[in-house]
Amino acid sequence: MKVAIIGAGFVGTPTAVVLAERGHEVSVIEADEERARALREQRPLLYEDGLEEALVDIHLGIGLGAKGSLDVYLRGDPVAVDALAAADVTIVCVGTPTDGGHQNDTALVGAVEDWRNAIGDHAPDQRAIVIKSTVLPGTCRRLLEGLRDKWGADWSDLYHSPEFLAEGTALADARDPSRVVIGAPTCGSLTAVHLVQAAMAPFNRQHLTTLENAETTKYASNCLLAARLSALNDLARVCASVGADAVAVARLAGEDPRIGSQYLSPGGGWGGSCFPKDVQALVSMAVDRGISVPSLSGAIVSNEEAKNWAISQFWDTMSRPPLIDASVKVAVLGLTFKPGTNDTRESPPMEFVWSMVRSTCDLDNMEIVLYDPTGTPPEEEALVSYADGLGVKVRCADVHEAVEGAHVLVLGTAWEEVAGADLRWVASVMEDPRVVLDTRRMWSPYAAGLYGLDYRGFGLGRAS
Ligand SMILES: NC(=O)c1ccc[n+]([C@@H]2O[C@H](COP(=O)([O-])OP(=O)(O)OC[C@H]3O[C@@H](n4cnc5c(N)ncnc54)[C@H](O)[C@@H]3O)[C@@H](O)[C@H]2O)c1
Repeated sequence: MKVAIIGAGFVGTPTAVVLAERGHEVSVIEADEERARALREQRPLLYEDGLEEALVDIHLGIGLGAKGSLDVYLRGDPVAVDALAAADVTIVCVGTPTDGGHQNDTALVGAVEDWRNAIGDHAPDQRAIVIKSTVLPGTCRRLLEGLRDKWGADWSDLYHSPEFLAEGTALADARDPSRVVIGAPTCGSLTAVHLVQAAMAPFNRQHLTTLENAETTKYASNCLLAARLSALNDLARVCASVGADAVAVARLAGEDPRIGSQYLSPGGGWGGSCFPKDVQALVSMAVDRGISVPSLSGAIVSNEEAKNWAISQFWDTMSRPPLIDASVKVAVLGLTFKPGTNDTRESPPMEFVWSMVRSTCDLDNMEIVLYDPTGTPPEEEALVSYADGLGVKVRCADVHEAVEGAHVLVLGTAWEEVAGADLRWVASVMEDPRVVLDTRRMWSPYAAGLYGLDYRGFGLGRAS
């Protein structure tokens, strides 16, 4: 089957790879020239475990189903238009950011228009478009109405198949999804439904439902996950105040099968390209409809509290001797919002760094050194020049250079390399007072204390 994917981001790229592996002829259409070129050369700009290797295998024709292939085109090129016109199924994977609390549909509408223009004046027969981007309930029906204006009221082949993959395990999730939800218009044609199902085959766990159910399921999933983390992080702050350890408490609470142990790690706030924007967009939509959703708006407030933990601990350390009047080196290990990805969108460690730099305190004597295993984050240039203007020194370095001589270490992302660091070495190269702020609870408080580190972990109280 010929499948076109619009948008080669964190969702579009793994989706394209997996569909090519399953034997489809996949054409990827990407608007960003650099992203398109890098993908064509099998060196994607986004980092995901196994992605580059999978692209090389596809390029070499290794392990592909019958006709599997993957071609990449730049949006607007005549070949890209031909690929859209020829595709049996077109899958839209463009970004749907939240601006001012509301979903911004600009890229989505642009992608659907690209497809409509490529098809032309006559209603397409045996061609379907699938919206995979996360969209608020009602969006797909509006898009469908727009296409009907052009092709007549009987045309119904627009579907919604929300994506549930998680960055960090995107390729594995795309290869073995927990479920494939296909939302269809109530009057959709069965041929096109079968076409869409076949494009997603042989994935099992397919569920056919309405457009609105599919749209809302995606938000329900993200809201429930975010709210669970927020509730846990609220409890973690209570743990810290009563001398308990949130990690131990969460582990014991999770032994109740009704609670379960997955997704139950306390940490300094959730971030990334999905939870913040999706929870916010749903809350705004609910408010617009006069529905009060205190548990969801509360989850956002709670998340700000969790993110503030590192920054308040940091200033607490800085406002006391011996650091109050000293030159201080602060190292931040891990900048992405979670391990396994190079995505720093809405990343709590990056927010921590920005918040340090933006603070009104006198930072003349401070040097901030950043390290992430995936290299320099995209915002680094903006950050460094902003900091430069304020006279604050910010630079990126390798892990050794970052830790050596640091007075304060902030553990930002639970990369294996950071979580498994040799604490004896860390303690031996840091400078007094050797403060460690562990926002993700990666290190053992006992081991850190043993080596003489002043360890402070999110949700960790000091037992009396
Ligand atoms: N990132 C995730 O973990 C994740 C998980 C599930 C769902 N989602 C949802 O999937 C959607 C895509 O997310 P993402 O993280 O992959 O976004 P992204 O920003 O990484 O990628 C989107 C890509 O689409 C391209 N694009 C925009 N308009 C285009 C057009 N008309 N033609 C061709 N290319 C175009 C952009 O250049 C960009 O490369 C969003 O709605 C998001 O909420 C994301």
